[in-house]
Amino acid sequence: MSIETQKRSAAAEALKLVEPDMRIGLGTGSTARYFVDLLGERVRDGLKVQCVPTSIATARQAELLHIPLRTLDELTELDLTIDGTDEIDDSLSLIKGGGGALLREKIVAAASRQMVVIADDSKCVSTLGRFPLPVEINPFGMEATRLEIMRICEINKAPGSARLRHSTDGRIFVTDGGHYILDCALGSIPDSQKLGIALNNIPGVIEHGLFINICTTAFIASSNGVALKVRSA
Ligand code: A5P
Repeated sequence: MSIETQKRSAAAEALKLVEPDMRIGLGTGSTARYFVDLLGERVRDGLKVQCVPTSIATARQAELLHIPLRTLDELTELDLTIDGTDEIDDSLSLIKGGGGALLREKIVAAASRQMVVIADDSKCVSTLGRFPLPVEINPFGMEATRLEIMRICEINKAPGSARLRHSTDGRIFVTDGGHYILDCALGSIPDSQKLGIALNNIPGVIEHGLFINICTTAFIASSNGVALKVRSA
């Protein structure tokens, strides 16, 4: 099974959780995209749901599929959010933000009773940190913020580098919220919860891509099929 088939299979499993009249958060990225496509087919067949997108890109895709969209101000609590991930460990802690949507993804997931991750098994790790940790920052004072992030990572036994993200055209990557992203190559994050709290205490940090105790369920696809993982209480 190709990676793309695996991503679609994980999305198809997550689709089985969708019930009529649910309020659903729509994730961002190449895996979440499959879910939105499949949900669009159900909507076309008459399913009634209301959805909150986690990015402008996902909103555009959903609009084309005529999926009813709302804001998180209109629907303050969601039943379910389905999203991809860049890394997932055994406790269902995540690194997200490879696509740059981590802030809205985290706000939407936190407003949901359930966050369900869909991924292929290349995203599974025993310790988070192989994927560079995206940290969304305010452009003001970004070099001071960058140095402080590196200091905090080092104190938390995850030393490494923090590079400003650029788009393929060479311009600085700007998030949907108008912020910049530092990609922090740390290799391994021994205590992701502690690092996450410490990063949130840096004034220039808007949010980071560590999702701890947020994901409740994961559908992980491999060439053997799709495995269900549930976070233990
Ligand atoms: C978007 O900012 C990210 O959090 C994505 O959800 C994550 O990068 C997974 O994307 P893929 O499904 O494209 O790997």
